[in-house]
Amino acid sequence: MTDRLRVGLIGWGTVGAALGELVLHGPLPLTLACVAVRNPARPNLPKGVEIVSPEKALHADVVVELAGGLDGPREWARSALDRGTPYVTANKALLANHGAELAELAERRTAALLGSASVGGGTPMIETVTHLAATGAVESLRGIVNATTTYILSAMGTGRSYGEALREAQEAGYAEADPSFDVDGRDAAQKLAILASVAWGKWRPEREVATSGIVGTEVSAGDTIRLVAEATSDAMTVSPMPIDPADPLARAAGIENVLEITVRDAGVFRIWGPGAGGRVTAGAVYADLARLVAGERPILFGKR
Ligand code: HSE
Repeated sequence: MTDRLRVGLIGWGTVGAALGELVLHGPLPLTLACVAVRNPARPNLPKGVEIVSPEKALHADVVVELAGGLDGPREWARSALDRGTPYVTANKALLANHGAELAELAERRTAALLGSASVGGGTPMIETVTHLAATGAVESLRGIVNATTTYILSAMGTGRSYGEALREAQEAGYAEADPSFDVDGRDAAQKLAILASVAWGKWRPEREVATSGIVGTEVSAGDTIRLVAEATSDAMTVSPMPIDPADPLARAAGIENVLEITVRDAGVFRIWGPGAGGRVTAGAVYADLARLVAGERPILFGKR
């Protein structure tokens, strides 16, 4: 294939800038057609690339949305998919609140919808669950899917204060733009809803997750407390809890995410890896783009 895919990138934050770098210098035949931001007057935008409004970026060959939020992204996704344009996003709020509607539209228009980076940062959790769900025998999911809270809780376990640890996670670019999504458990709830939708082949929204966050959680030096996400085919919960040091989940420290998938007649599968950070998360978006370059047209939450 000689044609290069023209990428319209919406969002130039930690992940957007890292993705821009990969599109410009990575191995895939991609062109950074334009970058869209809500405020074109902001500093640090890339030089030599057209800066446009989000609506204009929808005219590229593939739209990558890394802006976050719900209102703009829902309309951008609908508009791109409606004209058959592949849509790649790391926006878990969008997928966990409007995923069914977007997948239906993608199927009607035969447009790809991809969101690897929405869960697990750079760790291919959606892909692993999709693979293991093929036999229809996933029994449960259990894991740690928010890096900021793992970072904070593990730092508090070594004697640092909640405020110091949160500040470090923000400075390193792990936390959401509004870190209350991390510490209130909503980020983990959105990711769990996405994974459960894939595991049981039916879209399940964030509002079905019983969610508690970590604000006010007491951690003494030496404690291993984590924000644990758990799902079965009929219930989803996110809440902080003490973990036995011998529990494999206890191995997730710093920004690591971990997911255990229990499959009937097969056993327990585990996947670990860095769950946040610009380059890490951009790598997952880039892997989605690789599938498009290879001619695949996957639809997250789709029927095929
Ligand atoms: N704020 C998220 C986290 C980023 O801490 O896990 C990755 O989704």
